[in-house]
Amino acid sequence: MTARSLLDITDLTPDELDLVLDVSERPIDALARPLAGLGVALIFEKPSNRTRQSMEMAVVQLGGHPVYTRGEEVGFDTREPVEDIARIMEGYHAMLAARVFDHSVVERLAAAASVPVVNMLSDRSHPLQGLADVLTMRQCFGGLAGLTVAYVGDYNNVARSLAEASAMLGMHVRLACPAGFDAADGELERVRLLGARSVEQTVSPQEAVVGAHAVHTDTWVSMGQEADKQTRRDAFEGYTVDAALMSVADPDAVFMHCLPAYRGLEVAADVIDGPRSRVLQQGHNRLHAARGALAFLAGVR
Ligand code: CP
Ligand code: NVA
Repeated sequence: MTARSLLDITDLTPDELDLVLDVSERPIDALARPLAGLGVALIFEKPSNRTRQSMEMAVVQLGGHPVYTRGEEVGFDTREPVEDIARIMEGYHAMLAARVFDHSVVERLAAAASVPVVNMLSDRSHPLQGLADVLTMRQCFGGLAGLTVAYVGDYNNVARSLAEASAMLGMHVRLACPAGFDAADGELERVRLLGARSVEQTVSPQEAVVGAHAVHTDTWVSMGQEADKQTRRDAFEGYTVDAALMSVADPDAVFMHCLPAYRGLEVAADVIDGPRSRVLQQGHNRLHAARGALAFLAGVR
């Protein structure tokens, strides 16, 4: 029998999303070490700073033992089939977590394993980041329903999880993406149906950001897309979040970025290092959100 997994934000109901955010803010002692004596496998096919560090420490704070493994050591479908890896590792660990190139790998792990599987970033989504993003916005503004989140840049894994989580919390979602790097019409409707007040997409960063309460962006070149670096940089010209763009947002608007950031490309240095930036709080919230998510999957309510 398969367990509850977290492959996408939409694996949670809106009520469960609220609960995970609440659990993320509970004192660690109140969580009563639900992973005491248990292991969690953390498998990375790509580099990581925040996700590895926050997940390792979240497991420790829940009483468990994280086992970090590079993707090539387990070799999904190269050394052995994904399903064999899942069925072996579930015998050692209470949960399996993986950062993968191809989202179908985490889906296959979850289908084969009897323990929860956590997506630590795939080409499709980055749910742990999405949790930290909405947790941070909730800390900045209190309730998020009716507020506007704008995302400027590539409609990628981070954008999708942010859009889903923001929609489920009743926000207005606005996307500014160049043609070819945008969300398809069906995707906008899918996100709207998750509970968004509205979902709009434009090619104009100014149109998306005007009056917005939170302005997010991410790299134009995600891990694995390095060969397309120049094409992408050309396509995203004009999409830099700079002071002029932030000036059309709400006067109390915050700037957010999942990091790592490339100053002078998707964000100007004076914005990410300026007073509106919440990127460190957002990065530190990765730990709290990871602990909340793992505790939830371990049965904490
Ligand atoms: N934001 C994020 O996932 O960072 P890492 O790639 O460093 O884990
Ligand atoms: N979109 C980026 C996020 C990095 C945390 C990537 O996939 O590389």
